Parts: sequence; structure tokens; C-alpha cells
Amino acid sequence: MNVPLKTKLPADISVVILAAGQGKRMRSATPKVLQPIAGKPMLAHVIDTARGLQPQKICVVYGHAGEQIRAAISDADLTWARQERQLGTGHAVLQALPYLSAEGVTLVLYGDVPLIRVETLQALLAVAQTGKLAWLTAQVANPHGLGRILRDETGKVRGIVEEKDATATEKTIAEINTGFLACPTALLSRWLPTLGNNNAQGEYYLTDILAIAVKENISVETLSPTNKSEVTGINSKDQLAALERTHQLEIATRLMIAGVTLADPARLDVRGELVCGDANINDVVIDVNCVFEGNVTLAANVKIGANCILRNCTIGAGTEVLPFSFIDDASIGENARIGPYARIRPGSVLGDEVHIGNFVEVKASEFGRGSKANHLTYVGDTSVGKNVNIGAGTITCNYDGANKHRTVIEDNVHIGSDVQLVAPVTIGAGADIGAGTTVWKDVAPGGLTFNEKTQIHKIGWKRPVKRSK
Ligand code: UD1
Ligand code: CA
Repeated sequence: MNVPLKTKLPADISVVILAAGQGKRMRSATPKVLQPIAGKPMLAHVIDTARGLQPQKICVVYGHAGEQIRAAISDADLTWARQERQLGTGHAVLQALPYLSAEGVTLVLYGDVPLIRVETLQALLAVAQTGKLAWLTAQVANPHGLGRILRDETGKVRGIVEEKDATATEKTIAEINTGFLACPTALLSRWLPTLGNNNAQGEYYLTDILAIAVKENISVETLSPTNKSEVTGINSKDQLAALERTHQLEIATRLMIAGVTLADPARLDVRGELVCGDANINDVVIDVNCVFEGNVTLAANVKIGANCILRNCTIGAGTEVLPFSFIDDASIGENARIGPYARIRPGSVLGDEVHIGNFVEVKASEFGRGSKANHLTYVGDTSVGKNVNIGAGTITCNYDGANKHRTVIEDNVHIGSDVQLVAPVTIGAGADIGAGTTVWKDVAPGGLTFNEKTQIHKIGWKRPVKRSK
């Protein structure tokens, strides 16, 4: 008989995320766990962190505004456990139990504690994988409202008491329960159904399993997080804003360590992934009040002026974005100059050394190397070749009221000021277009194109004067 070799698989990891609470203090139609930190729902932060552990299961316990939450976060890898009534954290985890694999360990996370780090959770899991109960605790300056960690005279942990059940002496304890724990799943399955609710709040406390473990002589090991922000829970908008600033400062610090120069680390907002510089040289400089959304990549030596918004874009080395510019879903080459007050809209691809100046809007257009549109211009649905100069006030008329049409401007074209290019239209290479021209037919390469206009001068013209009342 062929017996397959028993290969040692990594221990099963199940993650339970509690997200059934109401979050009344947010005073919002948006459920608490969908409120954003760094532009992403708190619950999505927790789920992404959980995924970093490569678990077998991620089970979200939901209740209040459940359908809204499931609609917002519909990823296929999630399992949802409904908690009809919020009878306590112990009851909440119990709802997830049927969905977890009986083997391995379970980690409990919270949808309103968004900044927990993968490394901290890995440390908890490593302890639980040895058969112990691993519990994350922290020393805090103001423990009010939180569960306190009870220890015996030798310092051995023996239980957790909630604020509302604590004696005056217990309330002086500064070591608090963060809520995070990892536990062999078999133990959880045994303990959770035995919890009672004979306490000040009439709730099934998850925290009671710690005393049960002690009673059963199962070792309990406490760990602490690297940063306080990891275990900061959010109940109100002021706490949300405070954690946002803490988180942004952490991001700013990481960028500065990578070599980015920030005019003021307190005035930076990254709502997504901002990657700066290359492996050796960074020298990216970011002035105050810039917002980075989605995936933004700035190559070495990029300079971003004050008050810019960059969303899902790539900026090549040495390019300068001057103040008050908005770049959305676009790619920009090297040594280009964008702004001030430029708007680069989705689908734009600007080559090296392109200059886009003030009050210029570019949409779904390509610009070849060295081409310029320096003032007051709209370029939409257009292919611009190399070394093209587009004069002030030039407009591509890409919309006929029903459909959009493309404009093609070939290499080395010079377009004067106040020109309308009525699409679909092609301007051949090297052509010059005179100021004030309306171009509605294709232009052959080279030569000068302009509309005939007459300039009339009226002698003796009387300027109207205001009638007296
Ligand atoms: C809980 C802990 C406390 C700890 C604190 C940290 C218990 C009994 N107490 O207190 O020791 O210091 O967290 O913030 O665990 N939830 C559900 N279903 C429920 C109850 C809660 O999903 O039935 C979720 C909530 O949405 C929230 C989390 O569990 O995300 C914690 O619940 P919360 O009521 O804030 O716990 P506390 O009583 O503050
Ligand atoms: Ca709470």
C-alpha cells in the first residue's frame, strides 16, 4: 500500500474581524468601520493586514448596517458571520466559530482598530502556534473605559476586568487589554460556548477566556505592540482625525527615511501608495499641502510644488510640478514642467521635456517629447507629436454635442494664440497655424494656415456713456 508522506504544512490560521458594533458616536449614515483612514475604510485596512498573514479564512462578524458593509467590501475571499444582536465580544467571536477550520489558531482583530501591523500579529500567532494563549496588552497614560490586565504578585497574568466591573484599586492599573489575541482554535471552540454574561453590562465578554485559560493551566503570554497607534480604536470623528494625523506622520517619516524632502511632514496626505525615487537617489521634494491618492510614483529628483493633488500617476525623473496642479490618472515623462494651475485629466501621456503651463487642461491626450502648451488651453482627445508649440488660448473642439472626435497634431507644428481646432482634424508636420484661426479642415504638412479676416477702423467712433438717472 502506498501511504503518502505526511508533509508539514504551515499551521492553519483563521482570522476573525469584529465589526458588528454600531458606532453611534460617529453620528454618520456611513457605518463606523467604513469611515476612512488615509482614504481607505478602516475595515479594509484590517482586512488587508489580515491578508498579509496568508490565513485560510478571514471571517468578518457583522451586524449593524451589515448590508451596507458587505456591499462596500465585497471581496470574494471573505466569509461573513452575522451577529443578530450585539451581546458582547465573546458572543461575536462565537458567531464566527462555525466558519473557522477546527485546526490551527485563530486571531481576533477589530474593524475599528485599523492600524494594527502584520509584524505584531505574526508575533501573537507564533506564540499561539505553540499551544498558548497570546494576548496583546499595552501600558497607557489614560486607561479609562478599557479592560485592565490583572496580574498576581509574581507578575503572572490572571485575568481581565472591564472598567464597569473594576474596583477602585483595579481602575488604577495602567496595563490595558487591546482586544487583540491569538489562540488555538480548539481552545476557543471549547471556551466560548461556556461564557456567561453575569457582569455589569450583561454581555458575553471575550476577555473572560483569559481567566479560564489560567484556571485550566494553559499558558498565557502577553505581548505589546511597537506603536500605540496600532491598538488605537476609533469611536468618534475627533479620534478618527487624530489617528489620521498619527498615521500620516508615520507615512511622512517613512518617506523622509527613504530620502524624500518634505517641506512639512505635518502637511502631507497620502491616501494610497506613494513611491519615491530609486534605490540609490531620491531627492524628491514635496512642498506643503499636497495630496497623493491611489498609486503614485515619483522618480528621483521630482519636485512637487505646494497645494498639488496627484492621483494614480507616474512622474518621470527631474520633472517639476508647480503649485496648484491636479494630475489624475496620467503618466508624465522626465524633465517635464507642469503647472502652476495645470489640470491633467485621465488618459493623458506626456513625454519627456513637455511643458504644460497655467490654466491648461489636458484630457486623454498624448504629448511627444519637448511639446509645449504654456497658457490657457484645452487639449482633449488629441495626439500631439514632438516639439509642438501650442499658443495661448488654443482649444481643441473635440465635442460636437453628441460625439467626441480626435485631433492629431504632428511633429514640429506651431499653433498661434486663440486657435480652434475643430475635430476630427489633422495638422500635418511642421505646419504653422496663424493666431485666431478656426481650423475645420485637415492641414497639409508645412506652410501657414490662417483664416482671412479684415481689420476695420472706425474714425469718429463714440464710446457709449452711462445715462444719468
Ligand atoms: C473591549 C474589551 C476591553 C478592551 C477594549 C479595547 C471586552 C469585553 N472588552 O471593550 O477589554 O479594553 O475592547 O477597545 O471585550 N463588537 C461586536 N459585537 C458585539 C460587541 C462588540 O462586533 O457584540 C465589536 C465592536 O464593533 C468593536 C469591538 O467588538 O469593534 C469592541 O467592542 P466594544 O463595545 O468597543 O468593546 P469595549 O466594551 O469597549
Ligand atoms: Ca469600545
